[in-house]
Amino acid sequence: MESLPFLPTYTLTHHPTPPQDPLFTSLYTLLKHNMYTLYITSILSWPTKRKLHQMRLPRMQYLVLRYSSDDSSHNTVETQSSDTRGLSTQADNESTNSDPLLAAFASFLPGTVHGVRVLYLYELQVSPSHQNRHLGEGLMWEVERRAVTGHRVEKVILTVFSANVSARRFYQRLGYELDACSSKMPVGEELPEPSFYILSKPVVTVERVEN
Ligand SMILES: CC(C)(COP(=O)(O)OP(=O)(O)OC[C@H]1O[C@@H](n2cnc3c(N)ncnc32)[C@H](O)[C@@H]1OP(=O)(O)O)[C@@H](O)C(=O)NCCC(=O)NCCS
Repeated sequence: MESLPFLPTYTLTHHPTPPQDPLFTSLYTLLKHNMYTLYITSILSWPTKRKLHQMRLPRMQYLVLRYSSDDSSHNTVETQSSDTRGLSTQADNESTNSDPLLAAFASFLPGTVHGVRVLYLYELQVSPSHQNRHLGEGLMWEVERRAVTGHRVEKVILTVFSANVSARRFYQRLGYELDACSSKMPVGEELPEPSFYILSKPVVTVERVEN
């Protein structure tokens, strides 16, 4: 177990394969809580089977941040993203506190897109009561560090719903831009937006000099 230098009150755990229960269920519960409304407004249904299958892909890696304090009051759901505020959802009825100290997680897989070696970020989820404390930024920093040192890929790539305005701003601030394989942003307000965009950021792989 380790921690990120700028997030001393959180512990970071790397899982090279999908974790077992009860952690797995806690990760899924947080994911559904955060994303349910965006899914049903963007593509009309919450894809339970597909999500669980994806989360259990044998090589899916996870970074999990847990609050390293006994003060579990941090997990009360105090905030909602601006995209879901005011909307009543099925996910609202599901607790995020199956693991009271779970604060955030990221999941990712190395792969190839159009011949380019990439690290594909599948999920980045911060528990509502821990948002806006740089946990998302910290996890992305660690994902990018691992992309360079561990996986030697050219870029980190991810998908974001066009309706997820705060996440798009978040990724933009971290230097992510529309990938060449993404749907383009419509020019002119009358054109409909695509449901999602594919964003990416090049990462620098330093070649090791062999003696
Ligand atoms: C999007 C998400 C991952 C960002 O993680 P986060 O930990 O909340 O983000 P950070 O704290 O690193 O930064 C987020 C924003 O909060 C701001 N912020 C950070 N600390 C703050 C503080 N103490 N006070 C006020 N604002 C703060 C940042 O400047 C940034 O602002 P921006 O909206 O203008 O970009 C997170 O909000 C989340 O999990 N959302 C729901 C799930 C989701 O949409 N995931 C992405 C799927 S693609």
